[in-house]
Amino acid sequence: MTFPHLLIEDLDGIRLVSVDRPDKLNALDEATLRSLHSAFDAAADHDGVRVLVLTGSGPKAFVAGADIAGMAALSPARARDFSLLGQRMMRRIERMPKPVIAMINGFALGGGLELAMCCHLRIAADGAKLGLPEVTLGLVPGFGGSQRLLRLAGRAAALELTLLGAPVDAQRALALGIVNRVVPAAELREATLALAAQLAAQAPLAMRGILDAIQVGAGLPLDDALEYESAQFGLVFSTEDAREGMSAFLARRKPVFANR
Ligand code: COA
Repeated sequence: MTFPHLLIEDLDGIRLVSVDRPDKLNALDEATLRSLHSAFDAAADHDGVRVLVLTGSGPKAFVAGADIAGMAALSPARARDFSLLGQRMMRRIERMPKPVIAMINGFALGGGLELAMCCHLRIAADGAKLGLPEVTLGLVPGFGGSQRLLRLAGRAAALELTLLGAPVDAQRALALGIVNRVVPAAELREATLALAAQLAAQAPLAMRGILDAIQVGAGLPLDDALEYESAQFGLVFSTEDAREGMSAFLARRKPVFANR
């Protein structure tokens, strides 16, 4: 299984996907956007994959943005298509039925921060720089960045990062709620894999219900969202894993979840 411009590594239920264009700081061109979409489609269907980690190759960047060289040649109509292609791919990641962790190992700028924000959790190296610098190119974010940053960190942070275009460091990103955790760069892989292993041991169908409740619920009025949560609760209650989780608690043993 190979995808252009991506490296795939499987480790005990964890699939590590690396954007692999380190000489271009992993900038997202059209081929890479398509490849990411295909790779996440494949991972969604693969029962052996419980959790995904998304990162960038090399020591310097997660992803330094959409590929500016490729973008500069686009007509306005093709630019809109490029934006839609990126948005579709990122929505695919956001709506994955299993958790996706962004492991931010360096620059996460423009399309790179947009990519990190469509993941469910974000863990950053202490030297990482995160931002939406599109305004400095005379552009607006086109892969969902204005909307996801608004929803993730609120209006003040969204307006500051998009209007100024200046990146923030990992600690400020943590304070703004853009990333979940910051760790020393040398410990990033180990800390991310430990977090992923913790998720890989959880009940997959419960995690799927949680992802659905939060992703779908976020777009609904509260009463409808609460009803949706109850529907998910009832659905997940019917699984073998729910029986196992509750029985294990009552028997004071560790649960073993079978994804059924
Ligand atoms: N698109 C295309 N190529 C990119 C890129 C991008 N978004 N970001 C970096 N690259 C390329 C550079 O052109 C350079 O290629 P080259 O060696 O063939 O000239 C290579 O990656 C290394 O980048 P360089 O700029 O030399 O590294 P640096 O350490 O001096 O600076 C950054 C790092 C991240 C500050 C700088 O590359 C940058 O500002 N990138 C663009 C960020 C951006 O605006 N992203 C939003 C796009 S919408």
